[in-house]
Amino acid sequence: MIVLGIESSCDETGIAIYDTEKGLIADQLYSQVALHAEYGGVVPELASRDHIQKTVPLIKEAIAEAGLALSDLDGIAYTSGPGLIGALMVGASIGRSLAWGLKIPAVAVHHMEGHLLAPMLEKDNSPEFPFIALLVSGGHTMLVDVQAIGDYKIMGQSLDDAVGEAFDKTAKMLGLGYPGGPILAELATKGEEGAYDFPRPMIRQGGLDFSYSGLKTFALTTWNKSEKTEQDKANIAHAFQEAVVDTLFIKCRRAIESIDAERLVIAGGVGANKRLREKLLELGVDVFFPKMEYCTDNGAMIAYAGAIRLEAGQTEDTEIKPKPRWSLEDLERV
Ligand code: KG4
Ligand code: ZN
Repeated sequence: MIVLGIESSCDETGIAIYDTEKGLIADQLYSQVALHAEYGGVVPELASRDHIQKTVPLIKEAIAEAGLALSDLDGIAYTSGPGLIGALMVGASIGRSLAWGLKIPAVAVHHMEGHLLAPMLEKDNSPEFPFIALLVSGGHTMLVDVQAIGDYKIMGQSLDDAVGEAFDKTAKMLGLGYPGGPILAELATKGEEGAYDFPRPMIRQGGLDFSYSGLKTFALTTWNKSEKTEQDKANIAHAFQEAVVDTLFIKCRRAIESIDAERLVIAGGVGANKRLREKLLELGVDVFFPKMEYCTDNGAMIAYAGAIRLEAGQTEDTEIKPKPRWSLEDLERV
């Protein structure tokens, strides 16, 4: 089965084609980073307008890359939520309409399920079920008990800012530019060990929930009290990253112990963080990461998740109904 995947939930237009026999046969990505950089964050209306400009041309590119014609497609998968409503509307409208025009089935994909299944794009090192997933993106921080595709139980999540959001806001406060996460992570490598000690929020109380808004405020207070040198900045970036990675590590260990899990999958944009990847390997269970390019938003993960659901016979009727809020727990089991 050959499936076209469309991702447009935030600031990346991702178009890919997944063949259930051959694997990924086309992968196109356009990032709107430059468009939003001058505003220091994603401007939803600009994001929607840019998706409108880029989606159809990228679909044509992907079809050409795979050496196919539109008529070779067997199904279309598009991100239906969660995300920015206008941005989702673009991918859903184009995806659903194209499927209708081609008389092929379409399926609405949950963006976080796409992230969660991204490590399975690695044919030779794909995790088996069940596993625990740590989803860490700009909009979500959660630990999920994954028994099968579509069988998800949220074990814990952030009560305030998502990890990626905390990285971005802290970076913005330090004047590091946009998108802040990867820039802050890079600067952290220049920080001195032990220069500052940041708190580890939500560690003492039991449970698997997270909280990151306090760390961002702690970073701001520390910065204001410092002499504001470049080294102070790097030291704060370092201490902030250590605190974030440590809390994620502790909660992952706790989640694994609570159900005797044998495997952990990391997914979402912050999964690209090198320090996090290195630290989680110390957990003593099998740890799986998507390739760096499939950590952040992309069309490949949507094409893959959609292909699995379409193969199982799941389809969407001819209605276009993006869901900006949508819980992973409401998905159908495959
Ligand atoms: O999954 P993603 O591309 O988009 C959402 O679905 O939100 O995640 C984007 C988030 C941003 O907050 C970005 O700053 C963060 O992932 N991020 C990182 C790194 N690379 C991306 N955060 C920390 N370290 C990184 N290397
Ligand atoms: Zn994402």
